[in-house]
Amino acid sequence: MYDFTTIIDRKNTGAFKYDFMPEPLRDSGIVPMTVADMEFAAPPEVNEAVAKAAFHGCYGYTGPDKAYMDAVKHWQKTRHDWEIENDWYVVTNGVVQALGIAVRAFTKPGDGVLIMTPVYHPFYGAVNDNGRTLVKSALINNNGRYEIDFDDLESKAALPEVKLMLLCSPHNPIGRVWSRDELQRISDICLKNGVLVVSDEIHNDLILPGFKHTVFASVPGASENCIVCTAISKTFNLAGLSCSNIFIPNPELHEKFRNRAHVDGCGCVPYIARAATIAAYNEGANWLDELISVVDSNFGLLYRFFEERLPMFRVTRAEGTYLAWIDMRSLGLGHEKLNEFMIEKARIADNDGEMFGEAGDGFRRWNLALPQSLLNDALLRLEKAVKEL
Ligand SMILES: Cc1ncc(COP(=O)(O)O)c(C=O)c1O
Repeated sequence: MYDFTTIIDRKNTGAFKYDFMPEPLRDSGIVPMTVADMEFAAPPEVNEAVAKAAFHGCYGYTGPDKAYMDAVKHWQKTRHDWEIENDWYVVTNGVVQALGIAVRAFTKPGDGVLIMTPVYHPFYGAVNDNGRTLVKSALINNNGRYEIDFDDLESKAALPEVKLMLLCSPHNPIGRVWSRDELQRISDICLKNGVLVVSDEIHNDLILPGFKHTVFASVPGASENCIVCTAISKTFNLAGLSCSNIFIPNPELHEKFRNRAHVDGCGCVPYIARAATIAAYNEGANWLDELISVVDSNFGLLYRFFEERLPMFRVTRAEGTYLAWIDMRSLGLGHEKLNEFMIEKARIADNDGEMFGEAGDGFRRWNLALPQSLLNDALLRLEKAVKEL
């Protein structure tokens, strides 16, 4: 049994969620549900390995040695039934960094890059900030469940300027775990139209009971036409170690990506991240299974509370991630007023759905990787604020 109930004081650790929280909630003692990291300590097995590495004392340049690659392979095989090879591998210091590297490596300024919206906001930056053209295919919101508009996706993929697709799988913020069939259709459309797929699978291990993650490269036909981005960061709350594992089975694409990554300064597996990865991937499975049941039970509490006490809001049923997507359009407050309401009346620090694209206007994203008592407090504050409206 691991500890998922202790409330950890993260103030003055430099945490974005706390020490950069906007006023007036900054020093309020309210636990934020914003940035996608967890209010739980990483697995104790990882903390021990990190401490041991720290006490060793030589924080030199380090790379993906055999112990590291064996751990990575073991995890992909046991968790995702995916056999990877050493020469598919490239290290980057984050998945967002990898998205930018892929955009620069595989497209020219002005080329189109396809995304499905609403989506994790840095997808927009990876395209716009590199001078490429964003081509959006809006997901269809069917009573809270999001689906791919394949006709639209196909017509966008067929545009001559579109060269790359950034796929979010599982999809933040709407919590879909794309099925094998859906991924097959995406792959077929992209292959047919000469569009390379960058599959951001950072949430691949955070899959709720009843669902299964499919590695994009394992879909028939896809492996030669994709970049798969993974990391220890979301899975084990290790984002601050800045280390991601990118896999590219196609040797030509691998070389192009690796060269571009080197130009951008990648190459080392950070010393502490190496120790953490080996411990997490070899010894972290039980901790992760428990975490998933805690997150699942938080989702259960959230669904029940909204159904019974706040039925005017619709909550999307998450299949993966620890992120809840809540439709608050029924309040009819408009964008600014809804933000004000959440902060000043409900006293909840969450994410404004609009940051994920215009279809997110009126929605909120809540991070449920926190002790249940804190989620309960937030729900009660929201209920009270709604009653007082
Ligand atoms: C879909 C997705 N990709 C990437 C990231 C961040 O990746 P990194 O911290 O490795 O850059 C996040 C974090 O929330 C995410 O949700």
